[in-house]
Order: sequence, then structure tokens, then C-alpha cells
Amino acid sequence: MSVQTHQNGSRWEFITQSRVWRSFFRHGWPDNPLDRSLVMTSNIFLHLHPVKVNRRSLHWSYTFGLGVIAVVLFGVLVFTGVLLMFYYVPSVERAYPALRNIEVSVPLGQFTRNMHRWSAHLMVLVAILHLIRVFYTGAYKSPREFNWLVGVGLLLLTLGASFTGYLLPWDQLSYWAITVGTNIAGYAPLIGNAVRGILLGGPEVGQDALIRFYTLHVALIPTLLVLGISIHLWRVRKDGGLAVNDSVTPAGEVPADEHVGGMQKTSEKS
Ligand code: HEM
Repeated sequence: MSVQTHQNGSRWEFITQSRVWRSFFRHGWPDNPLDRSLVMTSNIFLHLHPVKVNRRSLHWSYTFGLGVIAVVLFGVLVFTGVLLMFYYVPSVERAYPALRNIEVSVPLGQFTRNMHRWSAHLMVLVAILHLIRVFYTGAYKSPREFNWLVGVGLLLLTLGASFTGYLLPWDQLSYWAITVGTNIAGYAPLIGNAVRGILLGGPEVGQDALIRFYTLHVALIPTLLVLGISIHLWRVRKDGGLAVNDSVTPAGEVPADEHVGGMQKTSEKS
């Protein structure tokens, strides 16, 4: 029996010491501070967190997960948007019939279109709520001013995506909404007329405007959002995780019992 156990033990050791195993699992069982930090730093998803995480920042009511929900909604929008692109045609004659076709003839077409529309509305709402959360937790203060500005850029891009998407159905609602919207932009001092001209590609809302809005909606704005969201998440990580992580004792030390992850609890120290 003991020979059997010994054999099992050495077989297990043989597997866990093998190159294949070690290429997947680069650290031991996380029962010591070093391995616990390695769990965080060697995993691409956990690496988004700093090595030490404040317990309070993991509580859902600190962030309500709003930033993450915005990222997920963006993913849903890209996925459903690419599906819609298979059928949509950015032409003043064909745009509306194409969308009717998506709704009545394409399998799950109406569902896909509604997913895209509702996710877009929700993303605007969630980004605004996330801004409010960041403000009320004071997370815009140093050293996070830069990330606050990146966030403002992301909100403007999110609004831009909504606005440009509005014209694409080419129905009465979208035509007049964009006519009114671009007219309002035209009244801005100094740059108003230029902005209106750039957006519409001509004096009125027509084919040139549709193709511009389409390109902005499916190519330029999503690319900028991917870039902006990547910088935003990278900055959260580099600013030391969420702002609640900044809590320090009067002596300037991080209170050990508030952290999980790489750091040992005071009570665990021998
Ligand atoms: C497309 C829109 C946005 C996405 C996808 C996004 C995503 C995220 C995520 C995933 C986090 C970390 C987790 C969390 O706080 O929920 C975060 C944190 C943060 N976001 Fe955003 N965000 C967006 C818009 C904004 C806006 C509009 C602002 C403010 C103007 C902003 C400012 C910040 C700041 C300062 C942090 C760090 C918060 C802290 O340290 O507690 N973000 N964002």
C-alpha cells in the first residue's frame, strides 16, 4: 500500500515537474505570499488587478460593476453590429428596406437588431452612472486625473457612436433627428459650420451624410473606443487599482488586514 502511495506521489511529481505542466502553471499552489502574487501577475485576466487588492474594492457596491458592464455592452455591440453589417446597405434607397428585411426575413434578425439598440441605450446610461460613481468615490483625484480625462473621451465617443447610429435606419425619425442635431452643431461659434459640413459632407442630410455617418459608426469610433478602453483599463492597473486601494495608515503603511492577494495578513505572519 505504501509502495502504491509512493508510486502515485512520484507520478504526480513527474507530471507537475514536466515541461508541459510548467509551461501552463508557472507557480506553485498559492499558499504563500510569493505564489499568491504570481497567481495575479502570471494570469492575463487577473493581471488586470494589482498584486494587492483591497477587500472593499471587491465588494460589488463599491463600483456596482458599472465600468465592467460598459465593457461587456461594448462587446455585445461589436458582436451584434458585425452581424447587422452582413445585411445593412449604407444607401439612401436601400438602407430602410435592408433593415425591414433584417427584421422580417433574417433568422434572429429582429432579436439582433434589438440587442444592438438596447445595448447602445444602456451603454450611454451605464457610462454616465459610472462617471457619477467615480465622482462620488473621489476616484478622479490624483493620480487618476489622466484616466478621468480618458473616461471623458470614452463618454464622448459613446455618445458619438449613438448619434451616428441614429441616422442609419434612414427613416423619418432618423432623418429629422440628424437634421436637427447637425443644425444645432452648426450654431456653435466659429467652428459650427465647419463641423456641420464635415459631418454631412454637403449642405443637407443625404447620401454623402449617410456614408460618413456609416464609416464613423462602424470603423472610426469603434476603433477609437477599443484603443481608449485599453488605455483606460491599463491606467486603472497602473494607478494601483481602484481608488479605495489608496487607504494608508497614518504611518504611511498599507493596512495589511484590508488586503487579499500577494500580501500576508498580519495574523498570518510567523
Ligand atoms: C466607454 C465607457 C467606459 C468604460 C468601458 C469604462 C471602463 C472602466 C472600468 C472597467 C473600470 C474599473 C472598474 C470600475 O470602476 O467599474 C473603470 C475605472 C475608472 N473609470 Fe471608467 N469607463 C468608461 C467611462 C468612464 C468615464 C465617462 C469616466 C469619467 C469621466 C471614467 C473614469 C474612470 C476612473 C477615474 C476610473 C478609476 C476608478 C477608481 O480608481 O476607483 N470612465 N472604467
